[in-house]
Amino acid sequence: MAARTASRAFLRSTPATSSFRPAVRSTRFALPTQAFRASARRGYASEAGEAKSSNTLLWAGVALAGGAGAYFYLQGGDSVSSKNFVPTKEDYQKVYDEIARRLADETDYDDGSYGPVLVRLAWHASGTYDKETGTGGSNGATMRFAPESDHGANAGLKVARDFLEPVKAKFPWISYSDLWTLAGSCAVQELGGPTIPWRPGREDRDVAACTPDGRLPDASKDHQHVRDIFYRMGFNDQEIVALIGAHALGRAHPDRSGFDGPWNFSPTVFTNEFFRLLVDEKWQQRKWNGPTQFTDKTTGTLMMLPADMAFIKDKAFKKHVERYARDSDAFFNDFRDVYVKLLELGVPFTSKPEDRFVFKTSE
Ligand code: HEM
Repeated sequence: MAARTASRAFLRSTPATSSFRPAVRSTRFALPTQAFRASARRGYASEAGEAKSSNTLLWAGVALAGGAGAYFYLQGGDSVSSKNFVPTKEDYQKVYDEIARRLADETDYDDGSYGPVLVRLAWHASGTYDKETGTGGSNGATMRFAPESDHGANAGLKVARDFLEPVKAKFPWISYSDLWTLAGSCAVQELGGPTIPWRPGREDRDVAACTPDGRLPDASKDHQHVRDIFYRMGFNDQEIVALIGAHALGRAHPDRSGFDGPWNFSPTVFTNEFFRLLVDEKWQQRKWNGPTQFTDKTTGTLMMLPADMAFIKDKAFKKHVERYARDSDAFFNDFRDVYVKLLELGVPFTSKPEDRFVFKTSE
């Protein structure tokens, strides 16, 4: 594992080829990326399914997604044509490849990758699910709209949504809901995690489908709160613990959640380090002018949220934490299963689980 002396400054200044960074893949794609990037920041549609055309965009896609397919019109200059377009696995692989290529290209952000914030976007889009009412979940991509985009828990996720806009512009037939979850799947794979089988079928919904505030976990709370939130989605203790292992990735940002710092020394590589450090390190309350959080005794540079500490305070949770800390394969396998479940909560698929796609990770 990475040398424990790595600091954020080091991570930032480390050449992209360093093992601290996600492997920066060779630019296998010779696409004129700047062209679509320039026109990408076009704001969010004010209504579900709306895709605005502009003079600068020759292509306007109106996605009428349904089940495995989408019907869309291609409007190009003076020739107006329309055709049935039913995306295949290969089309979704192209979307995957585009996200992966952007991840490899856009390394001048945070610790060198947008991957962690994409994982957080997919999780916050999905984690609003309520099994009793069937509301929330990734179907709808309602975080495009206020009030959901303004919920405190979603602070900072505009960065992730904006990162995906050029991908949406290039593949207008994909719904935002499918795109965000596919990006969450792609990010885990590209950061060295398990392959995450994924299937399409989500439809974007309008502002009326926004979920109420308070459905996502509050990091300042304890195990009872964590259980209440995840039981509402339909997860059991083992699944909840596997999911929190995603905190191997990324960091907390004072201007987003108020908390500060990474959970481990390799925040752009998917590992079981979150669990290992949780059990092997001594965590003490950080003395600072900010919300209560914990720091490792050895270096004082890492971070645990109060809600993270709940996973070793609670015996039933701790049992799984210890197992994942010692057995990386078990964590990777269980994470894959539970993350697939998370990204599919509340989605009215017409396809079967065995029809999920397994995307090829970049080389
Ligand atoms: C008890 C449950 C959880 C709590 C309280 C929690 C809380 C937080 C907080 C406060 C942040 C920092 C946000 C920021 O300041 O940028 C964060 C980041 C993150 N969370 Fe969670 N989270 C939980 C569960 C999860 C789950 C289930 C996943 C994914 C499966 C996840 C993935 C992430 C990732 C990848 C980041 C880093 C984002 C970045 O680097 O920008 N979290 N989480």
